[in-house]
Amino acid sequence: MLRFFERLKPYRLEDAPDGNRFLTDNKAVLTRGKVVFAENCAQCHSSKRPPVDADQVEWFRQEVMKPDFRDNNFLSDEARYSVAAIGTNAARACGSNAKDGHIWQDFSSSTYKSLPAVGEIDVWNPYQETMDKFKIQGGVPVIIGHLR
Ligand code: HEC
Repeated sequence: MLRFFERLKPYRLEDAPDGNRFLTDNKAVLTRGKVVFAENCAQCHSSKRPPVDADQVEWFRQEVMKPDFRDNNFLSDEARYSVAAIGTNAARACGSNAKDGHIWQDFSSSTYKSLPAVGEIDVWNPYQETMDKFKIQGGVPVIIGHLR
């Protein structure tokens, strides 16, 4: 088992088929990208974490410049963020199977079951061709109104 995991390597864009087509050698562009990442993404997308008393953004600005920043970094902080804040496809986040009274209720923790509601998201309703407000909450989610 250990040998299997040791064989796994990170999936990097430069190793993907044609991945290099999306990359540049331009040093100025690469440096700018690292700064953008440090300032806008690293707070959630780095498992290398700043010391608690450090200025987070400043620390990331310096770390991303190190040639080994991606090594042993799984690019996540493993923290929970509301789908209402992130804005990605909500299908998985709205899954209700592991909630109380549902089929997999015995496979989730009481901490999970008592998570607070994350609020509303905008959802395209293809039947009425409207943008609807969709309230994510414990129990069965309900549509609470139309935007147009
Ligand atoms: C507030 C935290 C946060 C910030 C800031 C953030 N992300 Fe994310 N990102 C997430 C979360 C949470 C997910 C997973 C969303 C999901 O699964 O629906 C994600 C997913 C992604 C994914 C998809 C990864 C995958 O494996 O499918 C990419 C790519 C990504 N983010 C890039 C970025 C970039 C680039 C930035 C900066 C411009 C950024 N993110 C800023 C939290 C954040």
